[in-house]
Amino acid sequence: MTILGIESSCDESAAAICKDGEILNNKIATQDVHIKYGGVVPELASRAHQQNIVPIVSQSIQEAGIDINDIDAIAYTQGPGLLGALLVGNSFAKGLALSLNKPLIPVNHMHGHIMAHFIKGDKPQFPFICLTVSGGHTQIVLVSSFTDMKIIGSTIDDAVGEAFDKSAKLLGLGYPGGPQIDKLASNGNQSKYHFKAFEIGGYNYSFSGIKTSFLYFLKDQQKQNPNFISENKADLAASIQFTLIEMLMIKLKKAAHDLKISEIAIAGGVSANSGLRNRLKEIAKEEYWNTYITDLEYCTDNAAMIALTGYFQYKSGQLGSLRDQPKPRMSFNF
Ligand code: KG4
Ligand code: ZN
Repeated sequence: MTILGIESSCDESAAAICKDGEILNNKIATQDVHIKYGGVVPELASRAHQQNIVPIVSQSIQEAGIDINDIDAIAYTQGPGLLGALLVGNSFAKGLALSLNKPLIPVNHMHGHIMAHFIKGDKPQFPFICLTVSGGHTQIVLVSSFTDMKIIGSTIDDAVGEAFDKSAKLLGLGYPGGPQIDKLASNGNQSKYHFKAFEIGGYNYSFSGIKTSFLYFLKDQQKQNPNFISENKADLAASIQFTLIEMLMIKLKKAAHDLKISEIAIAGGVSANSGLRNRLKEIAKEEYWNTYITDLEYCTDNAAMIALTGYFQYKSGQLGSLRDQPKPRMSFNF
């Protein structure tokens, strides 16, 4: 069973080949065009996907050592994401499916992030809890099987990735800011500054308040010392990162206690953060959790996770059709 996976939800054009559940190749074309704008420009993302999609799919097929006619099904990201960006992957997948006369498998991008845990290495046992943290989402998901999962908590406003990126912007760092905060934080004192973390009910999150308190804190300090940011950049990065991680961990611990589950995974772009990865390992020792963190290449957007999710969906008969449209606000509906 050979599946081509296509990912085009945001600013990474990606293709991968999965054979019988094993990833043979995983290719990503990062779109550097957004860097000078300090964020993803949707129209430019769509155009870059259009330029990238044919070469990236051809390279993936070639490097996997297969022929295009060996492909048994085409999995693509149906949503959530940017409409124009999703449309490129959706249209390409449909065209290829039609010409090869093979089935389509529409995949939820956030489902894909969670399934990245089944690409290689130690695999979580069902049921497990996955904290899925990306640029657009922050979710606590109860995962009961490869295709059965339920969001039990999520952010009511900004995603934690956005909080990282916006904080980075306030510190004068480039885009995407998350990795830059991570790098700076490794040389900073995380206890130097304290920001008020806002807590809301259940397993939900709110990250817009912390972003505002960070902004006002910096403004106040700059009134006394205009060079405050440049003189304290690493400590500021470490302190805001620490606060964001603690906010994430409080609700994750609560969910694990309440549901009495000790199989805990993290997924999505922010799970590449070294502070978060280390903190999770520390808490795992205190709480007797078995924790699962993917390799860096499978934390951020990639098509291997889409191809593998497509494989599981194929096995459970969850196929799509040429009538399926992109779903920018797609949620889980298994
Ligand atoms: O999952 P992802 O690649 O794309 C979306 O689905 O959104 O996540 C992107 C997010 C961005 O906000 C980026 O700043 C953040 O993940 N990110 C990080 C790190 N690497 C990526 N945040 C903190 N530390 C990192 N090392
Ligand atoms: Zn993502």
